[in-house]
Amino acid sequence: MKVEVFVDATASLGTLDRRVYGQFIEHLGRCIYGGIWVGERSKIPNIKGFRKDVLEAVRAIRPPIVRWPGGNFASAYHWEDGIGPREKRPRRFDLAWKVEEPNEFGTDEFIEWCRLVNTEPFIVVNAGNGTPEEAARWVEYCNSKGDTYYAQLRKKYGHSEPYNVRLWGIGNELYGRWQVGFCIDGEECARRTIEFANEMKRIDPEIELVGVGCEDPEWNLDMLKIAGGYIDYLSVHIYIRGDKPYRELVASPTDIEDRLKGVFYLIKVARRKWKIRKDIKIAFDEWNVWSSEATCIKEAIFTALVLNSLQRLCNAVAIACFAQTVNVLPLIVTRDDGSMFVNPQYLVFKLYSQGIGNEVLKVTVDAPSYYSKEIARPTCFIDASATMREDAIYIHVINRNEEEEAECRIKFRGFMPVAARHLYISGRSINDRNTFDEPNNVSIEEGKDISIKGYEIILKLPPHSVNLLSVRR
Ligand code: AHR
Repeated sequence: MKVEVFVDATASLGTLDRRVYGQFIEHLGRCIYGGIWVGERSKIPNIKGFRKDVLEAVRAIRPPIVRWPGGNFASAYHWEDGIGPREKRPRRFDLAWKVEEPNEFGTDEFIEWCRLVNTEPFIVVNAGNGTPEEAARWVEYCNSKGDTYYAQLRKKYGHSEPYNVRLWGIGNELYGRWQVGFCIDGEECARRTIEFANEMKRIDPEIELVGVGCEDPEWNLDMLKIAGGYIDYLSVHIYIRGDKPYRELVASPTDIEDRLKGVFYLIKVARRKWKIRKDIKIAFDEWNVWSSEATCIKEAIFTALVLNSLQRLCNAVAIACFAQTVNVLPLIVTRDDGSMFVNPQYLVFKLYSQGIGNEVLKVTVDAPSYYSKEIARPTCFIDASATMREDAIYIHVINRNEEEEAECRIKFRGFMPVAARHLYISGRSINDRNTFDEPNNVSIEEGKDISIKGYEIILKLPPHSVNLLSVRR
């Protein structure tokens, strides 16, 4: 397969918000307990109770932001259960997932873990069976510099400095009947959002708020019309079924890109109609493919395609959180015997973290396509996105073709390549994966066959591969 990619260094699509490489951790299954947290007395190596191998693996992908505590869990979580001496914290029945919650991991643990990972915390308050007052107290506990009750409580528990949590979500998926405290329609959710925003912002006017959105235009219009002046982001969650044929799975990110564009156009229309001055963007704060088994190269290709879409959507999507980081639809898989491995999807985040610029460039691709029945359109075998920072351009190129390698020529406008490095993930087949027994079966490899001729780079892209080209001038 012969393909051409054209990168225009003189045409910027916009500035990339690095928060689109965010993660999501929830009190669900073994994500927190057994994944993030094992407790100080565990035999598993840990730092202050945080599982050390997971901590290091998360740090290595440099997530700019991590969303917590849910997800559905957030809608029945009362944060005051999770502070203070651990042995005194109540063991509760979690209404969301119908399991027991020990509350060993709470706000202070989350913030400390974020500091160790070097990431920004993003907290979702309980707008299900919680109250605006409870949410405002949480903001006070985290951010107040004063000497009021909840600020004193934080200090009493050993944290004299405010946490300065900037980003807060008001509720999770409140449109769904599966959600504790769901809303009947967007209007109800909008009124609830205003009440929460009003109280939370009185404590800290600097915080940024994410309101519950979805793909239902009626819901979103109600949210924007009524609560548009109170929120900074509208959330969208998309999960793709993992049991699709390979070519359909890797066509689906094109559809995700269109669906997100659709939500953003609606936001723009609503802002114009109701004269909302706030520049509302999308928080795509849960996304993944819903696969029942350990994930393989095919899910890695899907993941990279979504990340490329998010680069192109830099003017629409400011935040995105991969669901989830550990043990639940995971990047990282752990066992209670202390072993761990990473899925190829993890390697995608690692690869992307090794080369991202801040300006998204215009890219065009000339390559063969196949027809996707599900999204009813031709899907190009090659997807490419490029970002630029100072003297470097980072090109993320994905070869969807599971059978053929691509002979790829990359041409530039306004940029003379002098040095280039090629890293890729491919495996031997689309079903190749890592396991506890073979944790390094799939890895990031270095491409050896890359050359520069004038304004062109020539290289081979293996079948079913995710590639990073770091190019300097
Ligand atoms: O990620 C698992 C669940 O999926 C989350 O709790 C919920 O928000 C979504 O429906």
